[in-house]
Amino acid sequence: MEQPVANSLKILTEADKEACELVKVSEDELSVDKKKLFIESYGCQMNFSDSEIVASVMRSAGFATTSSEQEADLIFLNTCAIRDNAEQKVRNRLKQLNHLKKKKPGMLIGVLGCMAERLKAKFLEEEKMVDIVTGPDAYRDLPRLVEEAGTGQKAVNVFLSREETYADISPIRLNSNGITAFISIMRGCDNMCSFCVVPYTRGRERSRDHHSIVQEARELAEKGFKEVTLLGQNVDSYKYRPANDPDAEIVNFAQLLEMVAQVSPDLRVRFSTSHPKDITDEVLHTMKKYDNICKYIHLPAQSGNSRILELMNRTYDREWYMQKIDRIRTILGEDCGISHDMITGFCTETEEEHQDTLSLMEYARYDYGYMFAYSERPGTPAAKKLTDDIPYEIKLRRLSEVIALQQKLSLERNQRLVGKIHKVLVEGTSKRSGEHLQGRNDQNKVVVFPRENYQKGDYVQVLVTECTAATLIGHSVTEVTA
Ligand code: SAH
Ligand code: SF4
Ligand code: F3S
Repeated sequence: MEQPVANSLKILTEADKEACELVKVSEDELSVDKKKLFIESYGCQMNFSDSEIVASVMRSAGFATTSSEQEADLIFLNTCAIRDNAEQKVRNRLKQLNHLKKKKPGMLIGVLGCMAERLKAKFLEEEKMVDIVTGPDAYRDLPRLVEEAGTGQKAVNVFLSREETYADISPIRLNSNGITAFISIMRGCDNMCSFCVVPYTRGRERSRDHHSIVQEARELAEKGFKEVTLLGQNVDSYKYRPANDPDAEIVNFAQLLEMVAQVSPDLRVRFSTSHPKDITDEVLHTMKKYDNICKYIHLPAQSGNSRILELMNRTYDREWYMQKIDRIRTILGEDCGISHDMITGFCTETEEEHQDTLSLMEYARYDYGYMFAYSERPGTPAAKKLTDDIPYEIKLRRLSEVIALQQKLSLERNQRLVGKIHKVLVEGTSKRSGEHLQGRNDQNKVVVFPRENYQKGDYVQVLVTECTAATLIGHSVTEVTA
């Protein structure tokens, strides 16, 4: 029997609740004369996607990526600042790397991403072995910063831009399975949720030229990729109009989604993250219109209580959120996958208000979720104006209740799918058994089935015969021809 695999419900344990994954880059055409770069990424998909931009920028400066930190001349940690434990992970990693650095004089260490942006030059005082500090909008400057650090100076660029989208940089796909890829469509966030550090670490929201997005999707399809995920902190507020043409019509997210869906019927399209206040019926109808737009929406709620949502500055209340769920189910049907993010123990949250979160989850019948105990972030509106007054043990107890309920809901949602045939895109061999393949269905659920003669990249019709809370298990019935 397969155990839960991959992303679904990965936030089940206290140790896992970070939701921050860590991935080391793959070897990139190593040549003896090239200098070697090792990148490690933490945090959300946007950060992983940024590391692919960084690899591309550094390749132009003569660096090849390596998966061995021992042989690296340069190490970048692309960091996350979303919760305190995300930052602790990076500090612990830096301690380890310090030992390596002592043995390898000349090796440089750079801290990139959101924690670099949050701490800026203070990083250099706190972690003396760091040579380079670079924020998310300054990656084009990395070759110069590395050169400067090579002369023994400390190099910092944490400038946040209103325009940078790296639209013209072709990412180097790191750790790629050759089947699924991320495309960053916008950067930053203007929402100012009171608990969140992202507006401060990633700056103002800006959208990338739709031509370059469609072109990137086309190139991926030509290389044999079968699925793209359009990425942004709030994809539904995507809007692009060329700066030099104020009369041009704005392209919104629904239109962009349609353009990408039209690249190829064989290329699946996903997107993340949607903000409940911005996802429109137009987006839902566009999803319905195209078979290759996956019927799955990640719709973070954060809380099920209207007073807490107001303190969080989420700009919707419980009823508004419930109506969004209703719209999704009405337009896309009961089978549409819906997942959530939820925070427990936000400032002043009462036991009753916590119960509202649980009842909202029951109402939404979520397929899965990413769940977190509130972690106060310095400088955010909540840190400035509210008191972080819920004891840690209570936050954790509420978190465990939320997780337990989600596990029950996930199992129920999966059980409804048993006995049905699903179109599965094969991503590779099952982690548990070489005899089985693993892929995802439309609703982003992991499906495991016997290998037969199928391979990575195939679309396979799978009859699901059993399930766990995280995995559907079945066998193929016929191959789908695209
Ligand atoms: N842009 C996305 C989410 C970005 S951060 C959105 O708006 O939904 C990913 C998740 O981390 C958030 O949805 C939230 O649930 C969680 N998170 C953000 N700040 C947090 C904090 N201070 N403490 C605990 N969880 C937090
Ligand atoms: Fe943070 Fe809110 Fe922006 Fe999401 S929408 S990144 S939670 S400020
Ligand atoms: Fe973390 Fe920055 Fe993403 S804070 S969650 S890496 S936007």
